[in-house]
Amino acid sequence: MKPGKLVRLRPLEPEDTETIWRWHNDDDVTRWLDADYDESLAQLRKRTEDRVRNSYAKAVFGVETLAEGKLIGITALRDATPEVGRAELDVYLGQKDFWNGGYGTDALRTLCAYGFDVMRLHLIALWVVAENEGARACYRKVGFQEDGRHRECFRARDGRYHDMILMSLLEGDLVR
Ligand SMILES: CC(C)(COP(=O)(O)OP(=O)(O)OC[C@H]1O[C@@H](n2cnc3c(N)ncnc32)[C@H](O)[C@@H]1OP(=O)(O)O)[C@@H](O)C(=O)NCCC(=O)NCCS
Repeated sequence: MKPGKLVRLRPLEPEDTETIWRWHNDDDVTRWLDADYDESLAQLRKRTEDRVRNSYAKAVFGVETLAEGKLIGITALRDATPEVGRAELDVYLGQKDFWNGGYGTDALRTLCAYGFDVMRLHLIALWVVAENEGARACYRKVGFQEDGRHRECFRARDGRYHDMILMSLLEGDLVR
């Protein structure tokens, strides 16, 4: 895949497992992500080994810095529909020291360009918790627009409910 200015996207390797497991257990990283039951390192390792090859249905990439060659996060396009060419996007940077440095924006520009140019998608959509202002700002920089608000559909760890925003990017919207 064509690299970005700060990062390149690459398939995940079994050697990445411990790093990713650490991120999954970091409350700051997972604060606005869908919660899942705790998973052991061995279970995550097994899941990583069993991971099927990237495809139109699910393409998962590690975000690696160009300068250091360091894995700092994960991003994915999933549930693509050939009839419409719509896919959903996920992203998080597990390395907190890389937040707000433009890495997320660069990773998404790279992934969305791949989605439009190689996967021939028409529309990329994502959901974000309304309070996650940094993520919303990042998505807007890539060209995503806010389509609507789903009320109180996210339950945070403290039991509070939050609205989520549906955002979308059409091919012509991407800020390359
Ligand atoms: C969301 C995430 C991927 C963004 O990546 P990033 O590298 O931190 O983002 P960028 O630096 O490219 O862009 C963030 C922008 O938001 C701005 N921002 C940060 N906090 C903000 C706030 N509270 N209000 C408004 N803008 C804010 C930054 O200033 C930056 O804009 P700028 O470059 O114009 O200054 C990353 O922070 C992350 O993984 N967070 C934790 C997990 C998460 O929330 N994932 C998204 C789930 S939908």
